[in-house]
Amino acid sequence: MINTLHFSSSDNKSKSRAFQTIREEQKSIGYYALPDQDTSSILAYCRTIPDTIDTIVVIGIGGSSLGAKAVYEFIRPVKHIQRKLFFFESTDPINIRTLLSKIDLEKTHFLVISKSGTTIETFSIYKYLYSRHSHPASYTFITDPGSPLEQYAHSIQASVLHLPDNVGGRFSVLSTVGLVPLALCGVDIDALLAGAGKIKESFFNAGYMHNTLLDKAIYYAKHHAQYHINCLFAYSESLKYFCEWYVQLWGESLGKHQRHSAFHVGLTPIGLIGPKDQHSFLQLIMEGTRDKSVTFIKIEDFNDTIAIPDITLPHLESLDVLNGLPFETLINMQCDSVTQALLNEQDIPVDTITIPKADETNIGALIFYYELLTSLVGELIDVNTYDQPGVEAGKIILKQKLKGISRA
Ligand code: PA5
Repeated sequence: MINTLHFSSSDNKSKSRAFQTIREEQKSIGYYALPDQDTSSILAYCRTIPDTIDTIVVIGIGGSSLGAKAVYEFIRPVKHIQRKLFFFESTDPINIRTLLSKIDLEKTHFLVISKSGTTIETFSIYKYLYSRHSHPASYTFITDPGSPLEQYAHSIQASVLHLPDNVGGRFSVLSTVGLVPLALCGVDIDALLAGAGKIKESFFNAGYMHNTLLDKAIYYAKHHAQYHINCLFAYSESLKYFCEWYVQLWGESLGKHQRHSAFHVGLTPIGLIGPKDQHSFLQLIMEGTRDKSVTFIKIEDFNDTIAIPDITLPHLESLDVLNGLPFETLINMQCDSVTQALLNEQDIPVDTITIPKADETNIGALIFYYELLTSLVGELIDVNTYDQPGVEAGKIILKQKLKGISRA
């Protein structure tokens, strides 16, 4: 994976300070260690799930589902997937019914994933599914040690797996939370971690002087009052759910009160998919307010040779320039052209991440790259990256409302 920045930041003092803080943070924040974990117990657990199971269902939301979904949807088009994977994340009754109609309960294993063990969405859906299929052996619960969910799981004698210490929900994709569902579907989780490990190693070994990730974080933080919207413009449909994961990671981590002032700060994530969003959001970037940075993601080799046929269409001869062109060349030329157009404007911060191909190693690298970037930017804009007090108020009101309603 190569990241090319078309802007520079030379604030060595901030760079050195941020680098030291992140190095220190490794002692207390659990996700940094995940690339180095031994996966043998996860793989052993996965082997206990019978071959007759052809579908895995994740019941979870936010950090408990988005990461696995991002990886699964990226890998699925390019790899033989051993089992189907569905995500029950929403209390939308039509969505629940639609997903349920796609699965055979007898051939499904359910992973109920909740770090806190008390999330309304997860447990309303779980109650519904369990009432349809009350077989504890068909369920595995993934949660923090000692959570109410663990106690419940023990009471029905179902399997329980734990999250590692100090790993927050949105930073948990490379833990049991993401690795178990992915391994059960045949995703190579060791390759995923190896990709993350490469980014970790290159970041920490680079020191602070020649560190692109650090340069990018410093630039974002320094200019966060002006460029407070960060667009991730990915040129592949398979990165759609990666963009959703990015939106959650960035939004929930970076939109906060500052730690040492009363100011509200935040960087707003936007996920875009090319070329589709060239015909939509791009206008706003090109000619709208100068408040957006753009990161393009390109896949160099799609491992697919389909090309535009050598056909002339009457009255449309001008389109013959496309003839014989492989689609993978076209999509990357489109990405390069839009990049150039934005660079020509000279006041839009642009960078490009190029990944060689769609596989586990590269998506693992991309994930860890964004986790590190989030930690760095959070530190530099003075927020607590790892909490989410802002989502609590709505939950409290919902609980009050639930107590107040009378049921027929
Ligand atoms: O990142 C986070 O902490 C959140 O998005 C959580 O993942 C989400 O709220 C789900 O929480 P839980 O895993 O406790 O059910």
